Amino acid sequence: MTIPLIDLVAQYQGIKPEIDAAIHQVVSRGQFILGPEVEAFEQELAAYCGAAHAVGVASGTDALELTLRACGIGPGDEVITAAFSFIASAEAIIAAGARPVFVDIDPGSYTLDVAKLDAAISPKTKAILPVHLYGHPCDLDALMRLAAPRKLLLIEDCAQAIGAEVRGRRVGSFGTAGCFSFFPSKNLGAYGDGGMVVTNDGALAEQVRCLRVHGSRRRYHHEVIGRNSRLDELQAAILRVKLRHLDEWNAARRRHAQAYRRAIDGAGLTELALPQEAAGAAHVYHLYTIRLEAREAVQQALTQAGIGCQVAYPSTLPAQPALAPWVDARQRFPVAEACARTVLSLPMYAELTAALLERVVEVLAKSAAVRAK
Ligand SMILES: Cc1ncc(COP(=O)(O)O)c(C=O)c1O
Repeated sequence: MTIPLIDLVAQYQGIKPEIDAAIHQVVSRGQFILGPEVEAFEQELAAYCGAAHAVGVASGTDALELTLRACGIGPGDEVITAAFSFIASAEAIIAAGARPVFVDIDPGSYTLDVAKLDAAISPKTKAILPVHLYGHPCDLDALMRLAAPRKLLLIEDCAQAIGAEVRGRRVGSFGTAGCFSFFPSKNLGAYGDGGMVVTNDGALAEQVRCLRVHGSRRRYHHEVIGRNSRLDELQAAILRVKLRHLDEWNAARRRHAQAYRRAIDGAGLTELALPQEAAGAAHVYHLYTIRLEAREAVQQALTQAGIGCQVAYPSTLPAQPALAPWVDARQRFPVAEACARTVLSLPMYAELTAALLERVVEVLAKSAAVRAK
């Protein structure tokens, strides 16, 4: 029995008639760029996040970069972000011309450690870019309390956390803007690349709209250098279908997380650190990530048993060679560094069954390495 890390084919089988009809409609209409599907999806996603505006772009990376640029952030500015994330969080800051400043993460939520933020703020700091890693929301209340009096923008990297909540309110609309990715493996995934900027600021939304079509509001009149960064009609039509199922899928992920905890606790695997959920937060488990010292041996055992697993991420951002010019090599990020050594993500998707989940835990439990630690 093989168990993938994520099963997009099983997801498609569950919604095939709806997806096939949506694709057929777009192809029959013959309009592929910025048409009615993108417009409708923008409205639906804005409403889903409780925000006034949403602008579809080509990827989550572009959503971050275009938001930063639309906020006027560029050369000479600093943007604070998490030391443990996917490269895109830092890459977008650099692409906008600004300097990323890294802050360590909290060991419980794996998101920006707000207590360590103050020390990273300088007169050049313009924005904080927190990452809702693995689907767990950052401490947005604390971040807002810190950002507002210092007049810092708060740009949420929501790529892994669509539908996650803080005090019953979905991420994406707390700060200046929320940036989403529809990379296929995300909780709301397209059949290609896609992204979205969500905001309550109408002027910011208009500026992102301008940047995504070559810096133009009027055809063949270009105010600024923008780029070609559009969400296309086919992806929007597919995402509209999937958005209708998102809450049910996220609820299934949450149930699977509880089942993992019960099974792992039941097997007595006390050496494993399991994902936690902060008070008032609703995690959407984009990844179900455990921590363990004997990662390599367990990863090998799972792989040999045909079980998908993944290390996200084997390196902190400041340790990435590409980011060396922006990093003081002497600076340490103890929590992020420990995570890079010990994290391991287990299979997690809505269609995961109890039997498959139990099989994952059975292989984990059999792994001598886990027991020995
Ligand atoms: C935390 C984070 N930020 C940004 C991105 C970038 O999204 P995309 O791959 O759509 O450009 C990703 C996606 O992989 C991500 O995980």
